[in-house]
Formats: sequence, C-alpha cells, structure tokens
Amino acid sequence: MKNLSHKGKFIVLEGLDGSGTSTQLDLLKTWLIEKEHEFGKTYFSQEPTNGPVGSLIRLALSKRLKALDERVMALLFAADRLDHLYCSGDFEQREGINMMLEKGLNVLSDRYYLSSLAYQSLSVDLEWLKQINKYAVKPDLTIFLHIPVEKSLERRHGSRIHEELYENEKTLTAIAQKYEILTAELKTAGENIVTINGCLSKAAVFEEIKSVVSSIFS
Ligand code: TYD
Repeated sequence: MKNLSHKGKFIVLEGLDGSGTSTQLDLLKTWLIEKEHEFGKTYFSQEPTNGPVGSLIRLALSKRLKALDERVMALLFAADRLDHLYCSGDFEQREGINMMLEKGLNVLSDRYYLSSLAYQSLSVDLEWLKQINKYAVKPDLTIFLHIPVEKSLERRHGSRIHEELYENEKTLTAIAQKYEILTAELKTAGENIVTINGCLSKAAVFEEIKSVVSSIFS
C-alpha cells in the first residue's frame, strides 16, 4: 500500500456487515459538516463505489450476476478502488479521491482495502491481494467497528429480506477472524487503525468516533 503524501485527511470506516457503520456514518457526516470551519470540507464516499466497476460488483453482491470466481471479485474490488482513487474526472465529472486529498479536501470512505484483505483472503492468497492493492494510498485513520458475529447476523436478519454474497454465518465468522488478524498486522506495520466496540450504545460509539477523528486534526 502506498504511503500518503496528501494534504486532506483520509478517514475510513470498516466493520463486519451489520456492525453499525451506516448509522455511525450518518452521524459522522452531520458532525463533520458542523465542524467544517475547524476541520475543512469533507467528501463522503463508499466502496463499492457508484462508478462502473462498483455497479458491476453490486450486481454480484446481490447474486444477480452469478458465479463470479473470488479471484475475479478481488480484481473487481481492487479495480473499483483504483477508479475511486484515480478516476480522471474527464468522464461524467467524476474526480478521484486522491486528487481531492491532494487539494486539501478530507475524504470519509465507508470501507476500503481492509475490506478486500479481510473478505477476499478467505479464498484468495493474501500476498496477491496486497499486490493488486499496492497503488491504494494508506488512510490517515481507519476506524474498525468490532461486533461479534451473532450480533452481525441478528442485525442483518432484522433489516434484510435477501442474504447478500458474504452474509452467511460461516463466512462472517471467518471474516471476523481475518479482520482481527489483519488489524493487528497492519497496526504493527504502522497503520493508524482504531478498534471501537460496536456493541456499545449508538451514542457511546459515536462519542468514541468523534474523539479519534478529532485527534487526527489536532
Ligand atoms: P456494503 O456496501 O458495506 O454492504 P451493505 O450496504 O450491504 O451493508 O459492502 C458491500 C459488501 O462487499 C460487504 O459484504 C463487504 C464486501 N466487500 C468486499 O468483500 N471487499 C471489498 O473490498 C469491499 C469494499 C467490500
């Protein structure tokens, strides 16, 4: 992964499906807009993106596009990430987030390469995954919302009719283990990853998030 050299702050929210990232992202967005005078402007984004590769991925996630090999999924997620970062802006006025960061805009992304490393390493070689993600810039901060698998399943079942690609118990249990190993490994390698207990109340999780986000602007 590429070391950062940008002016804006790049913040990523990660977690198992159902870990509460969507709820916390909504709260964080409102708060970052309120704090704009202090922290500067923030662009809100997500992976899979709404770009061409992201749209293809969403078809596969909802199982409308059948039987894609996990190596193909890994390449699609990596391609979508590079499009997210480096899209030229010539087409449909889309501009990559790398350029935004270089101009001094902050970026908040719902998921990034930690998702690829955790989800796709279940069936794809981790070193190869790191290779295909080597042009992805490192975030300034990754917030990992940690919840037990049972909680993830409970929340997903409450909110969904169809089970998406990675949302069964066996897969989520294995992904949770991968997240644990990878967050430890990347932290040791110097990445700023903060784990927050996603089982706390919505307000308590948000207080912790605000505190870690504030710390990277001070
Ligand atoms: P997300 O949009 O968070 O799902 P939802 O809105 O349904 O909660 O993410 C989509 C799914 O894609 C999620 O199961 C995680 C998975 N994913 C990967 O497997 N690899 C990746 O690189 C990314 C970004 C997501």
